[in-house]
Amino acid sequence: MGRKNTKAKDKLLRKKEEKAVLEKHAALVESANSQVDPLSSFSAFKKFTKNGLNLDLECKPVGLIDDETLEAMFNLEKNNMKSFYDDCSWGWNDKKKKAEMCEESARYLIARDQEGTPVAFSHFRFDLDYGDPVLYCYELQLVESVRRKGLGKFMMQILELFAFSANLHKVILTILKHNPGATEFYKALKYELDETSPQEGVFEEECHYEILSKLNKKIYN
Ligand SMILES: CC(C)(COP(=O)(O)OP(=O)(O)OC[C@H]1O[C@@H](n2cnc3c(N)ncnc32)[C@H](O)[C@@H]1OP(=O)(O)O)[C@@H](O)C(=O)NCCC(=O)NCCS
Repeated sequence: MGRKNTKAKDKLLRKKEEKAVLEKHAALVESANSQVDPLSSFSAFKKFTKNGLNLDLECKPVGLIDDETLEAMFNLEKNNMKSFYDDCSWGWNDKKKKAEMCEESARYLIARDQEGTPVAFSHFRFDLDYGDPVLYCYELQLVESVRRKGLGKFMMQILELFAFSANLHKVILTILKHNPGATEFYKALKYELDETSPQEGVFEEECHYEILSKLNKKIYN
């Protein structure tokens, strides 16, 4: 009888602790989401002038982005990624991708040239992922002419700054294994296989994607 009681108490205590942790994590995400423009705190990152590029960066929730910019970002996404999607079970679907890109929680980091044309963007969200508070990078897309000039790295550094200054636990993203450019890029930036990435052998067919992350050193040391 006595033992049962202790077990029940331990279970209750564990449940309470888990609930408190989840509430703390949800509060971190809510606080990150309360910022309209997280880039406003990092004005040194509003310009990228390197390797012949002269770009202006801005950060906005999807609801504040004009239709022309949304259309340009969708076209860039499709141009870069359609063939990769079509080469695996995901398949490309205009409607589905547009819906994902316009979900209310979507935020964008956008780089424009001096004519105002978007030449790169990242779609990201502040969210809970398996209970962890994270910045999820849904997309990082650059037009071909601005690649290999350090812009992708610069934009990921900005996302890391957003995440870690808000005490989120990691920056996380999904890559397609048959996209070697992206694989090499994230390897160079020291992203590693996340604990939530599908394990080899769990799926009947080989899984065509991996989940990578960079952990917040203040949390995981
Ligand atoms: C992947 C991508 C975002 C990289 O951005 P980028 O600005 O070209 O990359 P950077 O110049 O910042 O590269 C940083 C380092 O990553 C590595 N790297 C980047 N692209 C690479 C590639 N295609 N092949 C091998 N290594 C690469 C290099 O080590 C590079 O450093 P170096 O140029 O000094 O050698 C960009 O090429 C892109 O938009 N590709 C098409 C869309 C895509 O695949 N997006 C990722 C979806 S998950």
